[in-house]
Amino acid sequence: MCGIIGYVSSGIDAENESTTAADGGTGDGRALPVLAEGLRNLEYRGYDSAGVALVEDDDLSVFKQAGVIDDLDLPDDHPATSGVGHTRWSTHGKPTDANAHPHTDCSGDIAVVHNGIIENYDDLRAELDDHEFTSETDTEVVPHLLEEELAARRRRASDGGQVGANADDVTPDGATADDATVADDQIGGVDLVEAVEAVVDRLSGSYAVAVTIAGREEVVVARQDSPLVLGVGEDANFVASDVTAFVEHTRDVVYLEDGDVARVTAGGVDVRSDGEYVERETKTVDWEAEAAEKGGYDHYMLKEIHEQPGALRQTLSGRIDEVGGDVDLELDLPESFLANVDEIQVVACGTSYHAGLYARRLLESFADVRVTVEVASEYEFQGGRDPWETLVVAVTQSGETADTLSAMRKAAKAGARTLAVTNTVGSTAAREADDALYIRAGPEIGVAATKTFAAQVTALSLFTVHVGRRRGTLTSERAGRLLENLRGLPGAVQQLLDASDRLEAVATEYVDEDAYFFVGRQLGSAVALEGALKLKEIAYVHAEGFPSGELKHGTLALVTENTPVLTVLTEGARPGETLNNVKEVESRGAPVIGFSSYDAAANYLDVEIPIPDLGVLEPLVANVGLQLFAYHVANELGRAIDKPRNLAKSVTVE
Ligand code: G6P
Repeated sequence: MCGIIGYVSSGIDAENESTTAADGGTGDGRALPVLAEGLRNLEYRGYDSAGVALVEDDDLSVFKQAGVIDDLDLPDDHPATSGVGHTRWSTHGKPTDANAHPHTDCSGDIAVVHNGIIENYDDLRAELDDHEFTSETDTEVVPHLLEEELAARRRRASDGGQVGANADDVTPDGATADDATVADDQIGGVDLVEAVEAVVDRLSGSYAVAVTIAGREEVVVARQDSPLVLGVGEDANFVASDVTAFVEHTRDVVYLEDGDVARVTAGGVDVRSDGEYVERETKTVDWEAEAAEKGGYDHYMLKEIHEQPGALRQTLSGRIDEVGGDVDLELDLPESFLANVDEIQVVACGTSYHAGLYARRLLESFADVRVTVEVASEYEFQGGRDPWETLVVAVTQSGETADTLSAMRKAAKAGARTLAVTNTVGSTAAREADDALYIRAGPEIGVAATKTFAAQVTALSLFTVHVGRRRGTLTSERAGRLLENLRGLPGAVQQLLDASDRLEAVATEYVDEDAYFFVGRQLGSAVALEGALKLKEIAYVHAEGFPSGELKHGTLALVTENTPVLTVLTEGARPGETLNNVKEVESRGAPVIGFSSYDAAANYLDVEIPIPDLGVLEPLVANVGLQLFAYHVANELGRAIDKPRNLAKSVTVE
């Protein structure tokens, strides 16, 4: 997830220097302060590198570097009245100066910022072998493709409208497409919107792109599966990943739809879809700037819970090979090593540990490999194992948790190979491990992990297919069924999110109880542990999660009519046996809230939240319901949900 912004004003109005949001204006027309401020407002979307491109007449200047926006070395003042900006959350390529956006073409006249993942960038890059690339990013193919496209259009225009030109064609003045500059292109009167349309037609994956070009007072944008919103001002117009970026300048917005391409100029915004101009409604947002950062939600945690379908699409993007029943995770771990691996040891803390528990069942069942999961602070590389045939998987959202890093280092010292499963490109875990698998959930601000748990389990499900296929223990048919479930996951999660009001009502009904028990079996017990942890973390109430079979071995003594039992009754969670345990608590008067796809359970549940059919991923969908329950209980109790007492997002001490 990255943040992008674009701005075009009608010119600098020195008289109006102090005109800001407060008095209804859009600044004095200079692009730099608007872009810099917008990026600060978008920093929650990513903060490992940042940059801006500014257009002043025929000059395009790019300022970009690794690090947070406040570290970006920008001029004190700049006369440009249009430009684009970007704050990055790395997916392809480390957070370095070269990989920071904007990216430019060979001439340095075209600048592009991008949010999303271009899945076919390898193929496109191979096609552009006579272009000079300066980064490892997927994004950089876009300015180079556009350079080709504009040159071809310029040639066609000067040839009197001939179509079918290509990069090798020779222009009337004897230059090839590669020699043609964008400055030349101005003379040809080529339409930038049409050129961008032609380029994005060639991209597969998800993108929100914004393009600016030397000599043009316009920003052209395109959207597919990544958010983009236009801001309509008086004497300047905006575009950004979300309203936060420019809400202090204008609240009149146009939300773009997938497939839209739009031109932003000082005079207005035009939107096209399928090559035709279309009308898109202008809406007025009534958020304050602070609420806008949270996308209109009261808390980051709730926003992040609702972001899960999009986050999971990113986790899966470009990684599923539908035809072969396989995955492409771009891992360097040798296939021969995985084929013979004797044991996989997962080390992790907190929510990541629960993701590890979920993954263990999948790896054992689908890849037929021995797996242990250990709380990282308890880990030692113990005897009885051959380090050369052991893979240690460190699951860590931040990549910086001291306990997890310490466990990973112990494993590496013993001679085991290590893999980091993390959300953070360039983190210590990613750098130190032999290999890294990125979960691509985007930044998570709420201390309680939500979307990153779902993305961790999703990435580890893909890894399960990878290992099973390399070991020859998973057929392509069985892998195909798991992959089909993974493809259905974002939609199934959305169904649970659509039941959010119901879960709020349930939380309100059961807010004032003595304690809460969370039970399930197998994959359901991993989720039960996670559900209890969420409630403890943010509501500060006593909650315990455990395998439901253990109820009768102790906790049943605590069960009363004031201890709701939340239970997972789905595929992958042995619902028949779990139901027997439900009957034990139900007969003792405890209210039972069931997240269920098991019809036989209905008569024993006080509240039934239906879970859509999704095979072994049903418990993961049920977990979204548990997140919403915890959130609404905590909200009813007036807790500091995003920053719960005594806790930290990333714990860098052992
Ligand atoms: C802290 C956070 C938890 C998180 C745990 C592990 O305790 O509050 O939400 O699950 O660290 O963090 P990691 O970044 O390693 O996944």
